[in-house]
Amino acid sequence: MSETHIPVLRNEVLDFLKPKSGGIYVDATIGLGGHSLWILKKSHPTGQLIGIDMDADALAIANKRLQAFKERLSLNHGNFVQLQEILETDGIHQVDGVLLDLGVSSLQLDTSNRGFSFQYSGPLDMRMDVKMPTSATHIVNDSTPDKLIKIFKEYGEERYAKRIAQNIVAARAKKPITTTSQLSEIVENAYSIKAKRSKASAQNRQKRREIHPSTRVFQALRIEVNAELDNLALGLDAAVSVLKPGGCLCVISFHSLEDRIVKRQFRQLAKTCICPPKTPICICEHQQVLQVVTNRPVLPSASEIAANPRARSAKLRVAIRV
Ligand SMILES: C[S@@+](CC[C@H](N)C(=O)[O-])C[C@H]1O[C@@H](n2cnc3c(N)ncnc32)[C@H](O)[C@@H]1O
Repeated sequence: MSETHIPVLRNEVLDFLKPKSGGIYVDATIGLGGHSLWILKKSHPTGQLIGIDMDADALAIANKRLQAFKERLSLNHGNFVQLQEILETDGIHQVDGVLLDLGVSSLQLDTSNRGFSFQYSGPLDMRMDVKMPTSATHIVNDSTPDKLIKIFKEYGEERYAKRIAQNIVAARAKKPITTTSQLSEIVENAYSIKAKRSKASAQNRQKRREIHPSTRVFQALRIEVNAELDNLALGLDAAVSVLKPGGCLCVISFHSLEDRIVKRQFRQLAKTCICPPKTPICICEHQQVLQVVTNRPVLPSASEIAANPRARSAKLRVAIRV
C-alpha cells in the first residue's frame, strides 16, 4: 500500500490558486493531502482549508499527515457534488479557490483489496466509498450484455467491448466473477482471440500493445461504479456556485472523457451571450459566470513525468469566477 501520492502539477496549481493568508480554499478530492499540504503552507498563518473525499481511508491518512495544520483544516467524508451543503456545515458560503484532482489515488490503485487495479489480485470492488451499495462485482455479474457493452464502449472506448461482454457472460454462467485476476484473464483472452483474427497492420498491433488489454475495461468499470462523469458535471457546477468573484477553480483530469466535460462546461459558463446565432442584438441578458484562463490545458513537464509516470495523462484547466 502506498501512502505517498505525489501531487500532480503541484507548482502549476499553486501558481493559479495563489493561496494567501486569510483565504478559504477547498480541496474537493483531498486524497492523501498532497496538494492540501502546500495550500496550507502557502496560506500561512490564517488560510483555511476544507478537504473532501469519498474515501474514508484516504481521509484518515490526510488527517494524520496534516496534523500540524489542524487549526486551519476541516476534513469531510462525502461527495464533492454536495460541496455547498458540506461548506454550510462549517458556516462557509463563499471561497477563494477550489481544486478538483480527479480520478484515483495511489492509495486506491496500490491497495489490492480495493480492487481498482488489474496489476494486483484482489476482490473486484472499485468503490471509492466502500459504503456505496454497488461494487464492480455487482456490475460485472448482474448487468445485461448490452449494458456491459455500453459501459466498455462509452467509458473505456474499448474496441472489443462486445467480445469482452460475451466472454464475461459465458464465464459468469459457470462461476461468479469476483476477483480482479478473473476479470483481467477474461479480457486478455478476448484480446488474444481478436488480435489473431484482426487484419490490422503489425505496426498498429505494436501500438495497441503499449497499454495492457485490461486498462480500458478497468477504467470503464471504475467510472461506472463511482458515477465519475455525472459527479464531475455536477461537481463543477457546485464548485462554481461557491466561488467568490475572482475565486479560482482548478481541475486536473486524467482522460479525454473527463477533460471534454471540463472543457465544454467551462466554455458554456464563459459565454457572454446565449442568443440564437442570427439574433441581430443581444436579448438574452445572460451573465458570464467564468473566465477561462487556460485556453489550452496545462500539461506536466517532461521532468515531472519522468519523476512520476502517473502524471503523464494529466491536464489542468483553470477558470476564474467573474
Ligand atoms: C487523484 S486523487 C487526489 C490526490 C490528492 N490531490 C493528493 O495530492 O493527495 C483523487 C481523490 O478524489 C477522490 N474522489 C473522486 N471522486 C470524488 C467525489 N465525487 N467526491 C469526493 N472525492 C472524490 C478519490 O477518492 C481520490 O482519493
